[in-house]
Order: sequence, then C-alpha cells, then structure tokens
Amino acid sequence: MSRPVLQIVIASTRPGRVGPTIASWFEGVAKNQGSFDVEVIDLKEVNLPLFDEPGHPMRGEYVHEHSKQWAATVARADAFVFVMPEYNHSYNAAIKNALDYLHHEWTHKPVAFVSYGGVSAGTRAVQALKPTCTALRMFPLPEQVAIPAFQQHLDDDGVFHPAAGLDDAASGMLKSLAAWTEAMKPLRG
Ligand SMILES: Cc1cc2nc3c(=O)[nH]c(=O)nc-3n(C[C@H](O)[C@H](O)[C@H](O)COP(=O)(O)O)c2cc1C
Repeated sequence: MSRPVLQIVIASTRPGRVGPTIASWFEGVAKNQGSFDVEVIDLKEVNLPLFDEPGHPMRGEYVHEHSKQWAATVARADAFVFVMPEYNHSYNAAIKNALDYLHHEWTHKPVAFVSYGGVSAGTRAVQALKPTCTALRMFPLPEQVAIPAFQQHLDDDGVFHPAAGLDDAASGMLKSLAAWTEAMKPLRG
C-alpha cells in the first residue's frame, strides 16, 4: 500500500537562514519514522512573488505559471509540516504569502509545526498562523515541536544537533499527523 505524501515546507527565505538545517534534521526523523513518503519544499526555491493572482484562489483559475506550478506541488501532498521561524512575534511573510496563493490544494489536510526562536521557541508565530490554516480548512495539530535558543544547537558549520528528547517529540508529532492524515482522507475524496 502506498504511503501518504508529507511535504516538509521550509518557511524562511533569507540568505543565511537556519531553516534548511532544522528541516534536514526533521526530514531524517520523518524518514526513519516511516509513516510518510517525504518531500522537502523550500519556499526560497519556489520563489513566489507577492500574491499577484487577480481572482480568489477558491476559484482555482490561476493565470500565472508560478501559481499553477505551486498549486500542482501542494496538490500532491496529503499532510504538511511547516518548519518556521518567528519574526517580530509572528510568522514570516513568505509562509503567509505561500498559503494565500491557493485554496483547495490545502483543504482537508492536516498540518504540524516545527518552530524555532529565542525563549519563545517560535510558538507565537505558530499560534498566529493557525487561524489562517483553519480558514483554509486545514487541521493544525496541537502537538508541536518547538525549539528554544536554537543557536545553542548549531555547530561551527551551522549544522543543527537536536537537544535530548527532541527526536522523540518529533516522532510523536509525526505519529499523530499520520493518524489525522488517515482520518481526514474521506474528506479529501
Ligand atoms: C526580521 C526578524 C525578526 C525576528 N523576530 C524574532 C522574534 O520575534 N522572536 C524570536 O525568537 N526570534 C526572532 N528573530 C530571530 C530569529 O529567531 C533568527 O534570526 C532565526 O535564525 C530566524 O530564522 P531563519 O534563520 O530561518 O530566517 C527575528 C529575526 C528576524 C530576521
């Protein structure tokens, strides 16, 4: 039986970002855990301009090639994990822009979060993004992997080494995500 597709979305896009190394750690955990076929989607590579579709995405009448390509990418996923920073006590602009571009491609799919930051561990960003996810009829999981003081876990080459217990937290979240992915399958048709 084929496994559901999990897209791990790297939310940050700035030069020198830490998002990719944290996503790379999480990708390893997800592949080991084995519930999903795993894809990493980097919003820097997706490279969407600020939302420029004339119509409401609910109609799915995309006029721009970048929107059509983004729609095709998201449509093939069954579940998501957003690997996201906290900017000014909220989510970064690129992840909101990427969500706003589409509608039905997100709908009836669960989403979980790996966030990172200072003492807040990115939790304020995740809380701020959840209403957008529910507006798109996604289910944001209560389970979250939140990484405080992430700088302390980067080595001299900028590679992320998780604190004790983080692998287990990530595995637990993935287990719950797999259950919700299965439970929501009938809604996705
Ligand atoms: C514009 C901006 C705003 C930030 N605001 C916060 C914040 O509110 N809370 C926090 O914990 N860290 C904040 N930081 C620090 C980030 O946690 C840190 O720069 C982190 O590396 C950002 O993720 P990225 O490297 O993937 O972009 C901010 C960083 C930037 C660039």
